[in-house]
Amino acid sequence: MKNLIENTIEFVKEKLEGAEAGHDWFHIERVWKLSKKIAETEDCNQEVVELAALLHDIADPKFHNGDETLALKVSRAFLEGENASEEVIEQVLFIIKNISFKNRGEVPENLPIELKIVQDADRIDAIGAIGIGRTFNFGGFKNNPMYDPNVEPKLSMSKDEYKKSNGTTINHFYEKLLLLKDLMNTEKGKEIAGERHDFMLKFLDQFYKEWNVD
Ligand code: ADP
Ligand code: NI
Repeated sequence: MKNLIENTIEFVKEKLEGAEAGHDWFHIERVWKLSKKIAETEDCNQEVVELAALLHDIADPKFHNGDETLALKVSRAFLEGENASEEVIEQVLFIIKNISFKNRGEVPENLPIELKIVQDADRIDAIGAIGIGRTFNFGGFKNNPMYDPNVEPKLSMSKDEYKKSNGTTINHFYEKLLLLKDLMNTEKGKEIAGERHDFMLKFLDQFYKEWNVD
């Protein structure tokens, strides 16, 4: 298992060379560490948790022309090459396929604990100071406006509208980031998310104060 995890780290680092800063190896490393921390508090298969955390953004559809199957193909080929068991491969692929926020309307019920853990970890990395940094970086990458007081957040977007993401970066807080705290699956996840949520509220207060120069 040690070797498989180490080989996966090498593989992911190489694959994510040059990725947008919010979805690069350091995002994966944080999600992997957060996943391990949450996994300690749950009864779960640690190997599946670690592999899924490491591979979850290996081929994000938004950077691959919307292709939602590429990550699954790439991950399966890698894990087969490492002689992982079919049982482990299937569990890891199920997590990669169903973890995403934008797919939350389509996921099956009774999700496995391993998915819940990695999903919490990925969502925790989307909020707090790191989440703010990632969100502005992504907005800049897309050349979206930072804020426009005349553009209202869209609270119930379809998956396609969400993916187009040409709204403002501040609106992304209302469309996604501030909703994540209440979507946490695990107790540990709730605890970490609560603190980060409060920090985002403070940030927004200060942002509007500075925006509205009087
Ligand atoms: P998921 O992969 O869970 O569906 P996304 O990939 O859409 O979630 O979002 C991951 C991160 O990318 C967000 O937490 C945010 O930091 C950034 N991001 C995504 N969409 C936007 C957007 N429209 N504006 C700013 N940041 C965004
Ligand atoms: Ni991620």
